[in-house]
Amino acid sequence: MSKPVYVLGGPNLNLLGTREPEIYGRDTLEDIHARLRAQAPKTALVLRQTNSEGELVTWVQEAGREAAVLILNAAAYTHTSIALHDALKSLKIPVIEVHLSNPAAREAFRHVNYVAPVATATIAGLGAYGYELALNAAMRLSGQGGS
Ligand code: DQA
Repeated sequence: MSKPVYVLGGPNLNLLGTREPEIYGRDTLEDIHARLRAQAPKTALVLRQTNSEGELVTWVQEAGREAAVLILNAAAYTHTSIALHDALKSLKIPVIEVHLSNPAAREAFRHVNYVAPVATATIAGLGAYGYELALNAAMRLSGQGGS
């Protein structure tokens, strides 16, 4: 049995669908997760979201032990969390950073990024489609398919 792909989300992503839809789209996180399950029915997926920095760090550590690949949208913690940076730095698995919007094209405070320097790849600005691309890449990277 292959190791799972972890898809972790940070603060406020539970509000997707109603939160600034002109920036983040109208899909809920449930919609996005359902599409990932449909995309990879044979791949074990661990799909979680938290508003707590400590919980996210704990889950990143868990992914390091349990996952084949980590897909991470750390949301606002991307721009603030050295704890998250340190946790990611200790991982030996690929990390694919995802953002719905393109933070580099937004406010200056979003240009600070503690995740990208310790990620394998970053996908940003493609909305929910970015998650599908990330899962495809994760399956390739873990030898579980992908196109
Ligand atoms: C985000 C971008 C972040 O700057 C923001 O804080 C988020 C969402 C995105 O997916 O576009 O909460 O990570």
